Amino acid sequence: MTAPLISPSILSADFARLGEEVRAIDAAGADWIHVDVMDGHFVPNITIGPMVVKALRPHTKKVFDVHLMISPVDGYIEAFAQAGSDYITFHPEAGPHAHRTVQAIHGAGCKAGVSLNPATPAKMLDYLIDDIDLVLVMSVNPGFGGQKFISSQLRKIEAIRKMIDKTGRDIRLEVDGGVDTTTAPLCVAAGADVLVAGTATFRGGPDQYAANIAALKGIA
Ligand code: DX5
Ligand code: ZN
Repeated sequence: MTAPLISPSILSADFARLGEEVRAIDAAGADWIHVDVMDGHFVPNITIGPMVVKALRPHTKKVFDVHLMISPVDGYIEAFAQAGSDYITFHPEAGPHAHRTVQAIHGAGCKAGVSLNPATPAKMLDYLIDDIDLVLVMSVNPGFGGQKFISSQLRKIEAIRKMIDKTGRDIRLEVDGGVDTTTAPLCVAAGADVLVAGTATFRGGPDQYAANIAALKGIA
């Protein structure tokens, strides 16, 4: 089995030292940097906006994997693209016209991801899959780090893996929420190729980041 890409969620980083934290996870072997954007409206928490993404951009050359948990989405795409996002992922429930949002993300020069909440069926992707670059399966309800992995999502990952393979296109399948050394191999076996990990990356402090990331890749 190929090792998954690891996208540490900076939601679990020390927010007073974010630039340093991003450099530390970059050096520790993070493949992507996962940025959780929350608006206190679509989800019950408020985090960071495009200014912070822009401020972090000079600290790493790694892919910025920006997860928008905001509603509406479209009016903020340009700002996140300008700030240096590579992938911009949104929740189809956040706005009425998901396909238009995909077009807007591509129009802004970024790769487009669609995120499915635990209760949202894979079917939601039927008329989006041919146009997107990433599917993000939420294995917790969005809003907070440190929650327990919801195992029913493994079936959804398997179903989406089949959908992706059928397209023959290069689409990443990412899992977000409660990913640790126990659940990571289950996600990979179900067909995921990118794993988001907040708590499991940042636990133990900077000296542990490299070991934590290697353990998640299954190469510790
Ligand atoms: C939840 C966020 C996740 C979260 C993951 O709304 O989208 O990215 O930070 O955190 P852990 O890995 O701690 O479950
Ligand atoms: Zn996330």
